[in-house]
Amino acid sequence: MALLFQRATPNDASAIVQLLALVWPHQPANPDQVATALAPPGHATYLATCQDQAVGLVSGFPTVSVAGEIRWEIDLLAVHPAYRGQQIGRRLVQCSTAAGRAAQARVARALIASDNHASQRTIAMVGYHMQPEEMTLYVTAPHRSAHPATGAPIHLIPVQTLTYSGAWLEGAVTTEAVQEACARQAAHGWSTLGTLVPQQQVQFHGIVQHSGFACIGRYHWWIKPYELRDDPAATPGCHHGRPAT
Ligand SMILES: CC(C)(COP(=O)(O)OP(=O)(O)OC[C@H]1O[C@@H](n2cnc3c(N)ncnc32)[C@H](O)[C@@H]1OP(=O)(O)O)[C@@H](O)C(=O)NCCC(=O)NCCS
Repeated sequence: MALLFQRATPNDASAIVQLLALVWPHQPANPDQVATALAPPGHATYLATCQDQAVGLVSGFPTVSVAGEIRWEIDLLAVHPAYRGQQIGRRLVQCSTAAGRAAQARVARALIASDNHASQRTIAMVGYHMQPEEMTLYVTAPHRSAHPATGAPIHLIPVQTLTYSGAWLEGAVTTEAVQEACARQAAHGWSTLGTLVPQQQVQFHGIVQHSGFACIGRYHWWIKPYELRDDPAATPGCHHGRPAT
């Protein structure tokens, strides 16, 4: 089976939509959102193709932590159900990890559901390690006028992913911080605002639930710090550029 691993361009948007629909049939992808996410130069989606059919993808982009550290976020990983178990997932994660290294990130990371064993196994094979702390992911739909801004200092990371335009709230989860984040969500029209709450932090769960956030599930961060010997050029068969067509 001849596989090609290449960085996606906006021309690949419809192939990506079709692949996402196969992998997550109950969450239809929006072609405009996919095209929007592919546009920024920092974003890198890699496609695995077999005889011109898209059979796998991984998307990634950089974010900056509260402490100012650049991280490479492996945001979405999907392989066509008929093509799984052939190490396509592993090779895609290798491509994305190399892209993060080229983007000068200090660490690559992926948030993986605690019960997603296939994904955990795939990323572990590329040298990622699970962080012990389990986190609950909360998200909220758009807020309108219910949350006036509080002016609280917050670390809010706007993101354009293949599936939504939104923001991630990091740092302290106080009532004022959550309210400020919701006010900015309303102002920007973000479809999704997400935050992670460590399992142990009981009072923080109450704050986000009281603000209308819904629990999506339990997750762990999987991380891989970059080291000097991680050479992006050393990733076999992964094409970071792509000639214009
Ligand atoms: C996760 C996913 C991308 C893996 O793709 P893949 O091409 O099959 O991955 P690989 O072939 O590179 O490796 C899969 C590894 O997971 C293991 N695996 C597969 N299914 C598994 C399961 N249900 N439980 C435990 N391990 C599993 C395989 O045995 C293999 O490990 P091994 O080489 O040690 O045997 C694919 O299963 C998928 O698209 N899942 C649905 C989407 C998803 O959950 N994405 C991640 C969240 S965004």
